[in-house]
Amino acid sequence: MKILPSPKEWNIKGKRVILRADWNVPVEGNKLGEDYRIRRSFATIDYLRKKKARIIVMSHIGKDGRSSLRPVVEYLEKRMAVGFVPDFRSEEAHGIVRDMKEGSVVVFENLRQDSREEKNDPAFAKLLASFGDYYINDAFSASHRAHASIVGIPKLLPSAFGFLFLDEIKHLSLALKPTHPFVFVVGGAKVSTKMPLMKKFARLADTVFVGGALANNFFKEEGMEVGKSFIEKGTFGLRPLFKKKSIILPSDVVVRDSSGTPQTREISAIMKRDAIMDAGPSTLRALGEKIARAKLIVWNGPLGNYEAGFDAGTITLLKLLAKARGKTILGGGDTIALVDRLKMEGAFTFISTGGGAMLDYLVDGKLDGIDAIMKKARRSKK
Ligand code: 3PG
Repeated sequence: MKILPSPKEWNIKGKRVILRADWNVPVEGNKLGEDYRIRRSFATIDYLRKKKARIIVMSHIGKDGRSSLRPVVEYLEKRMAVGFVPDFRSEEAHGIVRDMKEGSVVVFENLRQDSREEKNDPAFAKLLASFGDYYINDAFSASHRAHASIVGIPKLLPSAFGFLFLDEIKHLSLALKPTHPFVFVVGGAKVSTKMPLMKKFARLADTVFVGGALANNFFKEEGMEVGKSFIEKGTFGLRPLFKKKSIILPSDVVVRDSSGTPQTREISAIMKRDAIMDAGPSTLRALGEKIARAKLIVWNGPLGNYEAGFDAGTITLLKLLAKARGKTILGGGDTIALVDRLKMEGAFTFISTGGGAMLDYLVDGKLDGIDAIMKKARRSKK
């Protein structure tokens, strides 16, 4: 078992601590869609405040490099006093950090407003590192990205994982050395992104249930009628997975028929003008039986096209997991939003903050952000 560096090893009273968080949360207008990732960062922030560190939070938000963290700062102000640094490239930014009181918090503007962040530019990492004495990565969900604030800063400062990050590793690593029976449920639309996971868990899990539009590619590969269902184009090497006993596919589905009406159909009865939209009732019953017997269930990706309103299968699965006796671990942006809508957060063993990062971590227990801190720890011991 590797020792993972934690801030508890440091004496940080009065020190400037850079906290890389992932506050890439949905924003609607000026309000947050949901705040799960932010709330999960409070464990580390509260600890650092108690220890009287000076806390400089860095994060990205949005996809376009233009979004602002202002709505997040406004949300935080309801809970704690927090300063905002709108331009971290300005001289003023250094002044603000210099004047920070012990135990206070400032938030830097969206790092991706500077294109050097995503390019992992060494000079940019140096600029960011110049604001801190220590660095904590609590951005598990962004740690599959080799960006300056994830892999560049730890080369320059004493570095550790935050408590959110350590909690992610603790829970997600249960899937890498699972207790049995172990059920892995994978949904979503893109075979290309889920293929490594399916391959891995076909070996490791007793059952791999493949749902969502992923299953359509399997049906098509088997030469079955899939009508107008969404199929990701490309060759993914699905064939070897057919031989695996662990893999199960839906036996029935909900389709949108030629007149746009939802219908439940056996897989063998799909018609040319049907589009598969969700898992069917027999499928969910059979999956429910496996879940009820499992000691561990891990789930990533919706079972239906919820954007088109087909969320019933995914909601049923959430309820099956909430009743399960085994450990339940789930994640992904869509799942978090749904759990939030249904107010079911307390019903599971663990909800990962990660989307892509959860998938990557589950493949081999590695992420660029983990590697950067472990390398730094090894270098500091020499
Ligand atoms: C996420 O939402 O998965 C992380 O914040 C990473 O965001 P990205 O996919 O834009 O890098």
